Amino acid sequence: MRAPVDNLPDAPLILGIESSCDETAVALLRAPHTVLGQALASQVRIHERFGGVVPEVASRAHLEHIDPLLTQALEKAGQTLSEVDAVAVTSGPGLLGAVLVGLSYAKALAWGLGVPLVGVHHLEAHVAAGLLHRPDLAFPFLALVVSGGHTSLYRVDAGLRFTELGRTIDDAAGEALDKGAKMMGLPYPGGPQVERLAANGDAKAVDFPRAWLDRSLNFSFSGLKTALRVHLEKTGATEADYPDIAASYQEAVVDVLATKALWAAERECLESLVVVGGVAANGRLRAVLEERATHAGCEVIVPPPSLCTDNAVMVAAAGAHMLAAGRVSPLTLDADARAPITTAARC
Ligand code: KG4
Ligand code: ZN
Repeated sequence: MRAPVDNLPDAPLILGIESSCDETAVALLRAPHTVLGQALASQVRIHERFGGVVPEVASRAHLEHIDPLLTQALEKAGQTLSEVDAVAVTSGPGLLGAVLVGLSYAKALAWGLGVPLVGVHHLEAHVAAGLLHRPDLAFPFLALVVSGGHTSLYRVDAGLRFTELGRTIDDAAGEALDKGAKMMGLPYPGGPQVERLAANGDAKAVDFPRAWLDRSLNFSFSGLKTALRVHLEKTGATEADYPDIAASYQEAVVDVLATKALWAAERECLESLVVVGGVAANGRLRAVLEERATHAGCEVIVPPPSLCTDNAVMVAAAGAHMLAAGRVSPLTLDADARAPITTAARC
C-alpha cells in the first residue's frame, strides 16, 4: 500500500529520520528548505570505549532514542504529528540493524498517518545537505561525499540524479583517520582528534604516501594506514611526536581528496563542488579545497559541520527533492546495507 502524492500541499511538512550508523536523528522540514526543528542523540560516548561502532549496541540505542526524539523534534518545530505530510527515512546503506530501526519506525508512522513514505539513500541525503545550504545551486555539480563509511565522487544532475565518477577501493577517508587516530591511542571518532593534534604539528614532517592510482578518480587509503603503522613502529614515536605525525597524516588524506576532486571537476567541466559527509567538517580539507578550487575557477560549497555529519535534516531535504519528483516508496521497502546510489535514483 502506498499513500497518494498528488494531493500533497505545495510546501509539505516532511519528517526526516536517520539511524544508519551512530546518530539517531529526527527533523521536521517545511519543503523545500525551511528547517522547523530537529533532535539528535549521538552514540559517540557509548561506542568510545569499544574504539568504534558496535552494530548491536547501535541498534539498541536507536530503539531507545527514536521515540523521545520525535517528541522533542515536534515540540521544537511547534508541530503535531497529524500535520506531517510525508515521512522520509534512510533505507541504506549503513549498519543493517541500525537502518532497520529507523525504517520500521518510519513505515509504521507513514502507515498510521496515511502519508507517503520516502526511502532515502544515505549518500543522497548527505548531498541534499549541500542543497539545503545553497538552495540556488545550479545543476549539474560535483559532489565529494567523504565520511566514515564512504569516499565517493559524483556528478549530480537535475532531480538529484547521480553518476559515480570514483570511489574508494578499500578504506574510506574517515575510516583511515579513525584507524590512524586509534594507532596513536586517540579516542573514537578519530577525525576530529587528528585535526586537533594536527593544529600544532608540521604537515611536512613525515612524507606519507599518496595513492594516485594512475590518475584514476578512485581512492585508496589502506597503504597510508599501513605507512603510519610502520612509521610508528620503526621510529618508536612518542606522544611528543604525535602532532607532527597527525598533521602529516591528515595532509596526505586531504591532498588526495582535494587533488582528485579537482581532477573530476576539470574532466566533467563542472564549476561547483559540494563537499559533504563527516570528514567535510575538517578545517584543513576546507582550506585546501577552497585555495586550490578558487585557483581552478571552481566554487566550493561546504555546509556547516552540523549539516556535514549524520543528521535527519539532510534526510528530510532529500525526501523533499524526491517527493517533488514524484519518487515515493512502497511500505514493503526493505533496508539495504549496501545500496548503490543508483537504486535510490530510480525508486
Ligand atoms: O558522515 P558521518 O557523520 O558518518 C558516516 O556516515 O560515516 O562521518 C563520520 C566520520 C568519522 O570517520 C569521523 O572521524 C569523521 O567523519 N569526522 C572528521 C571530522 N569530524 C568528523 N574527520 C576529520 N575532521 C573532522 N573535523
Ligand atoms: Zn554519513
